[in-house]
Amino acid sequence: MASEAPGAVDGAARPASDSGDEGETVLAIVDYSAGYAGHAVVSGVSLALRAGEVVCIIGPNGAGKSTLLRGVTHDAQRLAGRVWLNGQDISEVPANRLASRGLGWVPQLDDVFPTLTVKENLAMGGYLLPRTEGKARLEQVAGMFPLLAPLMGAVAGRLSGGERKVLALGRALMTNPAVLLLDEPSAGLSPLMADQVLKVHVAALARSGVGVLLVEQRAIEAAAIATRVDVMVAGEIVASRPGGTIADVEAVAELFLGTGGSG
Ligand SMILES: Nc1ncnc2c1ncn2[C@@H]1O[C@H](COP(=O)(O)OP(=O)(O)OP(=O)(O)O)[C@@H](O)[C@H]1O
Ligand SMILES: [Mg+2]
Repeated sequence: MASEAPGAVDGAARPASDSGDEGETVLAIVDYSAGYAGHAVVSGVSLALRAGEVVCIIGPNGAGKSTLLRGVTHDAQRLAGRVWLNGQDISEVPANRLASRGLGWVPQLDDVFPTLTVKENLAMGGYLLPRTEGKARLEQVAGMFPLLAPLMGAVAGRLSGGERKVLALGRALMTNPAVLLLDEPSAGLSPLMADQVLKVHVAALARSGVGVLLVEQRAIEAAAIATRVDVMVAGEIVASRPGGTIADVEAVAELFLGTGGSG
């Protein structure tokens, strides 16, 4: 069982439900349950993500959105199901090897090393890379986020919330991941900065070909850049919508209540 990817043959994971769509599935989470101390918080979740897509998970506080991402990175316990990255089963790959397999992630909290400088944080993100490659990648990443250029020598703990989040994105990108897990990148930011992070930076990452699995509270802003929006309630995906279709607060409320599942 465990050796058979969902529609994945020779590295081309393509769940059957996605037939007809363009692009390769870079991340597939299949029948996944995760939680803490043997107790499931998330149960039976399946989702797939292609290169260049943003799949956004929204849902009420405590629904299990972070737990799903934390299960993938082993910060929560995987209780059932499997995770495929680029057609390879990474369910049991230790956390410290996930980056070299092509997974990047930015947790909801503790996303940078506060006592290190911006440059040191980026270098830490690329610690797996050979020295010269690390230097080149650091310049590339700095080029992607011009905001960081004048801050290279600044201590990360003194950055504004938005600058810090951009640094966290940059750090996660140092290993050039195929898939990025982002847990509420706009949390605690001003509306303007939140918009900037989502609509400029996250959207640009996806355009560059990274598959982004995004957890967000700002459903309307996130939907604007998402390929698909999945709604999680009490640990299960209860509705799924194409991105861009959640244009107003009423549509979000409808989805949260689980009444918007079919049309
Ligand atoms: N380390 C932990 N140990 C035990 N239970 C936990 C732990 N972390 C989270 N939980 C519980 O798991 C449930 C889901 O939490 P989770 O953080 O995944 O929700 P969330 O959807 O990300 O919420 P939010 O929108 O507030 O970030 C909650 O009931 C929470 O109390
Ligand atoms: Mg959370």
